[in-house]
Amino acid sequence: MCGIVGYIGKRPAYPILIKGLHRLEYRGYDSAGVALINDQNELTVLKTKGKVADLERYAESKDTSGTIGIAHTRWATHGEPNDRNAHPHYSQSKNLAIIHNGIIENYAVLKTALQKEGFTFQSDTDTEVLVQLIEYVQQNNHCDLCQAVQLALQEVIGAYAIAVIERGNPDLIIAARKSSPLVVGIGEDEFFLASDATPIVEYTHEVVYLEDEEVAIIERNKPLKIVNFKNVEKPLHIKTLEMSISQLEKGGYPHFMLKEIYEQPRTIIDCIRGRINPEGTDVILSGVLDHQEKFLHANRIIIVACGTSWHAGLIGEHLIEDLCRIPVEVEYASEFRYRHPIVRPDDIVIAISQSGETADTLAAVEIARKAGAFIYGICNVIGSSIPRATDSGSYIHVGPEIGVASTKAFTGQVTVLAMLALTIGKLRGSIEPERYHQLIRQLQLIPQKMKTVLGLSDQLADLSKIFTYAHNFIYLGRGYNYPVALEGALKLKEISYIHAEGYPAAEMKHGPIALIDNEMPVIAIATTDSVYEKTISNIQEIKARHGRVVALVTEGNHDVAAMADHVIEIPQVDECLMPLVVSIPLQMLAYYIAINKNRNVDQPRNLAKSVTVE
Ligand code: M6R
Repeated sequence: MCGIVGYIGKRPAYPILIKGLHRLEYRGYDSAGVALINDQNELTVLKTKGKVADLERYAESKDTSGTIGIAHTRWATHGEPNDRNAHPHYSQSKNLAIIHNGIIENYAVLKTALQKEGFTFQSDTDTEVLVQLIEYVQQNNHCDLCQAVQLALQEVIGAYAIAVIERGNPDLIIAARKSSPLVVGIGEDEFFLASDATPIVEYTHEVVYLEDEEVAIIERNKPLKIVNFKNVEKPLHIKTLEMSISQLEKGGYPHFMLKEIYEQPRTIIDCIRGRINPEGTDVILSGVLDHQEKFLHANRIIIVACGTSWHAGLIGEHLIEDLCRIPVEVEYASEFRYRHPIVRPDDIVIAISQSGETADTLAAVEIARKAGAFIYGICNVIGSSIPRATDSGSYIHVGPEIGVASTKAFTGQVTVLAMLALTIGKLRGSIEPERYHQLIRQLQLIPQKMKTVLGLSDQLADLSKIFTYAHNFIYLGRGYNYPVALEGALKLKEISYIHAEGYPAAEMKHGPIALIDNEMPVIAIATTDSVYEKTISNIQEIKARHGRVVALVTEGNHDVAAMADHVIEIPQVDECLMPLVVSIPLQMLAYYIAINKNRNVDQPRNLAKSVTVE
């Protein structure tokens, strides 16, 4: 949610900042801006409503020189997306410029106090309040920029990642974080700053992730220094990025989302690599095996997540209850954090998050920690906040996911949940050895089966043309396929802006069936599983009301073809792994419908990739 980039070094800063903003645009794209200090020590802010390309056009005729700068791409929280509210923000004297991710919760109180001191405001943002506060502190305490930031942040309640530069001080960027990620890249005689590592990786693999309430003093020709608010120096933990630049490019695909859909056979191989023994007979999930006692004696598992990750959690509930016989509750992290939940020390809390930065999920983790539960993270972004806040966990290892609509992260999460359930099930003796081995074999076949469903793309592209102008969709599934129905509906609404709802198929007759008429497309997942016959009855109920049914069935099933309007055949897979395969045609259908409607599938309106504000 909002992207931050900064540079100080020997090269012109502007092209590096712009390229970085393009890489971060998936985090927010309402407005963009840059602040630079030129050779005459002048501080210039250039910013505009719209995307980074709009900023580039706006800056064409302006001075963009200088070897130090900070830049921002915004997802609006306070104040509508317009030129005034775009970052960077100047302080009153225009001596300082700031960029900020997060929310300053007590901004109204601070603003009133500053107004009494004669400060005036040009924008509606909380961010401008913060830069004015820093200037006020600096003027009153006659201190340097770093001290002013340290003192000001002690007055602030909220979440932030900030970077500040100062006119006449072309050798210094001050950056700080609390509950919003910030990473410093260390190059040769140069430093990079960003809200995640994607803009940094093409310049250096050496990075330092800031911790909460740390301030980075990023000074030209000096070693990086990290201090806390009391100016106590902190040790530098330099990490090596494993990401490669090709993972951040579209690789010949028109959109990141399509690339990420097609990557799934490979990302599942990456996800299971090293976690199934070479003989293919055992799952070795070290995050579980290193804490066996916790999993042996757990009384309950609570899964917390948001959005697509929550849908993966619902599949995890089925897997864990089926294979481990441990009761599981799946909670929206945003609800969990505010409803005084009962969490006990013998509970295990599993936090699922692609970004590892979702504010609500992180807050749920903190509640679980305070209650003494053991916390397990299932995340994608290495080194992000949730993996660092958990006791153990497993990365999904699907590589950077840039498309705002999650695809390969979902199947990676379900794959890890399947391996987790197999590992716990074996530990607790709740799974028959034959079933254990059969599921491991099936898991290894998933990438091949995914390739087969990717071969359905022409059929799905044709089908999408029939339904592009529908105003509503219903997605139905039962058992393991119910969360897939929810996920299919979410994909469609996110990127095509068509209203879509997912339901457990049997719930239709309790109300939603009133919506059915000959204009209502119903996507029914009716693969051959333990609830197949029941799902068929539900399809018949819809056909009896003239609904238009697109059925996803197991290869070779001709019975459903007789009642459905369109049939998509999926390879046979064990029912508990079916979500891995059946979700892919739903991702593709949503993609093609959105393309037909000329939507921006990688950056759909109003959304951002990682939701670091609550
Ligand atoms: O990074 P996270 O997995 O924690 O993100 C959770 C949701 O914000 C995310 O899944 C969102 O629903 C996606 N846009 C879904 O495509």
